[in-house]
Amino acid sequence: MATASKILLGVNVDHCATVRQARFREHALDHGNEVEPDPVAFALLCEQAGADGITMHLREDRRHVQDADIRRAHAQIRTRLNFEMGCSEEIVALALDLKPHAACLVPESREEVTTEGGLDVVGQKSRVADVVAAMTEAGIITSLFIDPDPAQIEAAAELQSPWIELHTGAYANAYYGDGRATELQVLKDGAALAHELGLVVNAGHGINYTNIAEVITIPHLHELNIGHTIVSRALFVGVEQAVREMKAFLL
Ligand code: PXP
Repeated sequence: MATASKILLGVNVDHCATVRQARFREHALDHGNEVEPDPVAFALLCEQAGADGITMHLREDRRHVQDADIRRAHAQIRTRLNFEMGCSEEIVALALDLKPHAACLVPESREEVTTEGGLDVVGQKSRVADVVAAMTEAGIITSLFIDPDPAQIEAAAELQSPWIELHTGAYANAYYGDGRATELQVLKDGAALAHELGLVVNAGHGINYTNIAEVITIPHLHELNIGHTIVSRALFVGVEQAVREMKAFLL
């Protein structure tokens, strides 16, 4: 497969934090070494196994990753931190202070979401434009998490966001149904259009060890951001093995 080489692997470690919060939600992080599992330690193991970057999403409701996690990750990881974030003023201010390598803008409230679930850049153009401009000014690469919809892709290019992340959720959901080939083609067409418009094309959401074989046939992919399946597989084979197995699909 022509596109199967040199796609980078970004590991989203949010669901390691989800497991921790299942026990420590009420206690914050004041239980010393008994607070487990640590998403930053998870991220460091991912890097040792070949992950090219680490993604963390600090949600406004702090349902998994906490502020301290992001700061520790930023200080300790050796690859690149992709800070996944909504466009609220509080989170934008935090990102501008932290200065991660990249900021992936995602929808958090209903009105920011398109039909399939990506950021509605078309409908939120001025707010997204402001955030992209502020990030760019601070030297942070912005990535807009959008559906593979030509209107959204064109809007991302218009706002001069250097990267986009194509939402692969509709394809992943259709994998065992009738819509799989159609959704894959929509992603391929979206990636081709984005590339033509000069955007760097990443993709993510719902990618797993099965559908990855097809996902890598999408042209022009720079990086895939993968979380849930790696955290899940790590329970059985360990973090490093889980990352190595996914990385093997991308080499
Ligand atoms: N990319 C983005 C923008 C996401 O919001 C998520 C999910 O948190 C992912 C990638 C990773 O998705 P998954 O956990 O399904 O691999």
